Amino acid sequence: MIASGQEQNAAKDGLVSMTERIMLGIESSCDDTSIAILKGQQLLGQFAAVQHIHSKYGGVVPEFASRAHQVHIVPVLEGALKEAGCSLRQIDGIAYTRGPGLHGSLLVGSAFARSLAWSLGVPMYPVHHMRAHVVAHWMADAAPNPSQPMMALTVSGGHTQLLEVRSPTDMHVIGTTMDDAAGEAFDKVAKMLGLPYPGGPEVDRLAALGNPEAFSFTAPKMEGHNFSFSGVKTSVLRVLEKTLATGVELSETMIQDVCASVQATIVSILVSKLEAAALERGLKAIAIQGGVSANSGLRQAVQELGEQHGWDVHIPPFRYCTDNGAMIALSGQYAAVESKEGRLDEAPLARWPMT
Ligand code: KG4
Ligand code: ZN
Repeated sequence: MIASGQEQNAAKDGLVSMTERIMLGIESSCDDTSIAILKGQQLLGQFAAVQHIHSKYGGVVPEFASRAHQVHIVPVLEGALKEAGCSLRQIDGIAYTRGPGLHGSLLVGSAFARSLAWSLGVPMYPVHHMRAHVVAHWMADAAPNPSQPMMALTVSGGHTQLLEVRSPTDMHVIGTTMDDAAGEAFDKVAKMLGLPYPGGPEVDRLAALGNPEAFSFTAPKMEGHNFSFSGVKTSVLRVLEKTLATGVELSETMIQDVCASVQATIVSILVSKLEAAALERGLKAIAIQGGVSANSGLRQAVQELGEQHGWDVHIPPFRYCTDNGAMIALSGQYAAVESKEGRLDEAPLARWPMT
C-alpha cells in the first residue's frame, strides 16, 4: 500500500486515521513479548506474555529473556490475531523493535518479523523503541491527541529522557540521566527492601499505605535538563543499613514509609525538571510516557502541574505505558506513510542513539 500525498501531509500533523492500512507491531526489546494489530491509529487487538522467571533473580537475565521470547512469540501472535478478529492475509505491514534493548531479545522479534514479512510479501518497518514510547500518545484511544508542541518525559526501566516533541516524527532529546534510569531507581530500591522484580509497581502499591514525609532522601543537584538518581538509591541504602545495624528487622510500616518517601523524591525530581524545561522552551503541553508513567504518584503530580500552569497534559492509558506492541505498530504506520521501509538484511541495534 503506497502513501498518497494527502496521507503524507496528514501524517505530518500526527494523523493517519483515514488510512485503511493494517499494521502488525512486534515488541521484544526486554522481557515483555507484545504484539498488536492496528488499523490506522485504531487498536484492533493486542496480546502480551509477561516473563515471571526474572522475579527470582531480582532483574532481567538476558539469556532467559531471549529464550522466553522464543517460546512466547507464536502464541502471542495467535492471541493478537484472535483479539483483532483478523487473519495474517489482511496484514499490510510488519513493524518491529529494532533497538535499543537486549541483543538476544531483539534478535527473536527481529528474526520473527522478517520471516513474517518475507513470507507474506509485505513491507517491514524497523522502529526505535524510545521514539515509540512517545508515539503512543497518538493512539486513537489515548485521547486527547497532542495537537501542539509538548515537553515530554520518557521514564522507563532503561532510560530517562526529556524531549521536545513537535509531532510523532519530529522529536529531540534535550536531557537524559547521568546514571540510573528512573525505573531502575524504583527497581533497585525495591530489591533492597526485598520486594519482587519488577519493583516499580510494588513500590507504587506500598507507597499508597505509607507516609511520604517519614524519610528525607537526597535529591541530587543536577544542572540543566539532565537527571541523576544514584544519590537517592545510596541515601535509601544508608537508612536501611542504619536500621538493620541496630538488629531491628524492617517493619511493614517502615517498608511502606520508605516506599512513600522514595516515590515522593523521585516524582519531585521528575516533575521539577519537566516544569523547568517546559517553561524554558515556552511550551504549553506536557506529557509522560514509558513504564514509570504508570506510577500513580507521578500521574497525579503531572496532572496537578498541568492544572497549575493551564497546560495540556498527556498521560497514556496503562496499556500504552509499559512496553507494548501498539506503540511499535503505530510507529510503523508513520514509517509507512514516509515510505521508510526496512531491509531484510538489517541487524537489530542493542544500542541506537536517538537522532
Ligand atoms: O517502559 P518499560 O515497560 O520497559 C523499558 O523500556 O524499560 O518500563 C519498565 C519499568 C520498570 O523499571 C518498572 O519497575 C517500571 O517501569 N514501572 C513502574 C510502575 N510500573 C512499571 N515504576 C513505578 N511505578 C509503577 N507503577
Ligand atoms: Zn520501554
